[in-house]
Amino acid sequence: MILADKVALVTGASRGIGASSAILLAHKGAAVAINYFQSPDAANDVVEKIHAGGGKAFAVKADVRDPKQAAEMVKETEKTLGPVDILVNNASIGFPIKPFMDFTWEEMEAKLTGEIQASFNCCQAVIPGMVTREYGRIVNISSGLSKSPGDGFVAHMTAKAGLDSFTRSLAHEFGPKGITVNTVAPGLTETDATSFLPQEAKDGYAAHVPLRRIGVPDDVAGAVLFYASDYSRFLTGTYMPVDGGSIML
Ligand SMILES: NC(=O)c1ccc[n+]([C@@H]2O[C@H](COP(=O)([O-])OP(=O)(O)OC[C@H]3O[C@@H](n4cnc5c(N)ncnc54)[C@H](OP(=O)(O)O)[C@@H]3O)[C@@H](O)[C@H]2O)c1
Repeated sequence: MILADKVALVTGASRGIGASSAILLAHKGAAVAINYFQSPDAANDVVEKIHAGGGKAFAVKADVRDPKQAAEMVKETEKTLGPVDILVNNASIGFPIKPFMDFTWEEMEAKLTGEIQASFNCCQAVIPGMVTREYGRIVNISSGLSKSPGDGFVAHMTAKAGLDSFTRSLAHEFGPKGITVNTVAPGLTETDATSFLPQEAKDGYAAHVPLRRIGVPDDVAGAVLFYASDYSRFLTGTYMPVDGGSIML
């Protein structure tokens, strides 16, 4: 129970990578706030799974792009579970996939601002408490696409690269306060967000992955747990690809 007595808040935890991460953190002893936006039933299923395993969790609604909703979510978490020790910024901010010349600035801007706002708002809401307690673990979920290009992903790549810099900036500023801030960068992972891809496309991608498959949410959850725990206590501002070896740094 390496997270016994810890409180974690996972954004976008109703489905996919967020749900798996929340369940693993709870399994390791954390009390977990399951943030959702539009899927209350899925969020409640995650809570029930955690309760069935003897863990502690509750579901909390917020569009994390909105600073008021993010602040309210943190307040509710603190009231229900206690001060937040671990924040996982995972919520998936949607984006179009198409050639650069087909983008409007509005589409680009929605992804850029949405992606950074989501983490910015949640970090601003939890960091003051972490500073007071001189302890915090922040994990930002980026993407391998922040370093390695893919056709049609200009908005996603640019936004995630911004998130990587945001992570390093906070790591630098808050390291002296006992807060670590690290990046987990999944490669292609089987979730609702990638269900639109035909199986042949996934198989074609997997053929070029050294470990010869695409990811599943539990693969990413393991990396989140590492950064959420004290096993990573001397790491901050780092970037961990979870992609079967696609990116080797
Ligand atoms: N899947 C991949 O291949 C892949 C690869 C690299 C990086 N990633 C990153 O991994 C993270 C999780 O992606 P995923 O594939 O697990 O996504 P997913 O299965 O589509 O789930 C998305 C989650 O984000 C939540 N969400 C969306 N907008 C939100 C908002 N404004 N406020 C709060 N929650 C919001 C959803 O909540 P509701 O359903 O309740 O609305 C849901 O829980 C994302 O940051 C994504 O960019 C994914």
